[in-house]
Amino acid sequence: MISINIIKAFSDNYIYLLRNESKNITSVIDPGESEPVLKYLNEKGWHLDEIINTHHHNDHIGGNSKLQEIFNSKLIAPLYDKHRINNVDIYISDNDIIEIAGVKTKVIHTPGHTLGHVCLYLEEEKCLFSGDTLFYLGCGRVFEGSMEQMWLSLLKLRDLPDETLVYCGHEYTLSNAKFSSYIDPKNESLKIAIQKIIEKSDRKIPTIPFELGKEKFINPFLRADEKDFTNSIGLGSNVPAECFSIIRKQKDNF
Ligand SMILES: [Fe+2]
Repeated sequence: MISINIIKAFSDNYIYLLRNESKNITSVIDPGESEPVLKYLNEKGWHLDEIINTHHHNDHIGGNSKLQEIFNSKLIAPLYDKHRINNVDIYISDNDIIEIAGVKTKVIHTPGHTLGHVCLYLEEEKCLFSGDTLFYLGCGRVFEGSMEQMWLSLLKLRDLPDETLVYCGHEYTLSNAKFSSYIDPKNESLKIAIQKIIEKSDRKIPTIPFELGKEKFINPFLRADEKDFTNSIGLGSNVPAECFSIIRKQKDNF
């Protein structure tokens, strides 16, 4: 069993510090900046063994070099990003089984936000680190891949067990909640979720992690193949990838 420590960075990024006490291993996922990670590590007296990146955007890798310099940490990053992330020790690709913080982890390639984006699934810990692919009530903007690729990537994540807890790369939940309730105003489960989200936001505590099982019924980006839903928003005659694309573009301009 590992502990997952949530570190806030920039205005809305999350960095995750994983600690395996019994094996004395500490790993960080997506250190966009080094200072808040260093502060946390110093307070705890932990050595940083590993750094893992989900994708090449600077707000996820910006702290790599400083942390590597101080701790000589091993850097694990997507093979696809090899020309964009420096000093990588271990490259990862779809379906690789690796260890993060001493725990078996499956690499899931999720192109769309970027072409090389990977998510990290720790089955025994029942958790997923989804980077900028899946957010609470949202999904990442599609910058490099096609809309269809992003939709297929989200389907891969949707297939994971309901009890999976999702840790995503940003606190975009409140803004996503506004869009979700706009597009799906009659969804009672969504209303209940949003109430809890507002309570947490008011107290300035992270809305992360969220449960994948519940998300399947309330995140509009995971429901582009659900006929009742797509009919209700007037997209019933489109194939799922098209529905997804239309919903994603609507959110981009919301
Ligand atoms: Fe990103």
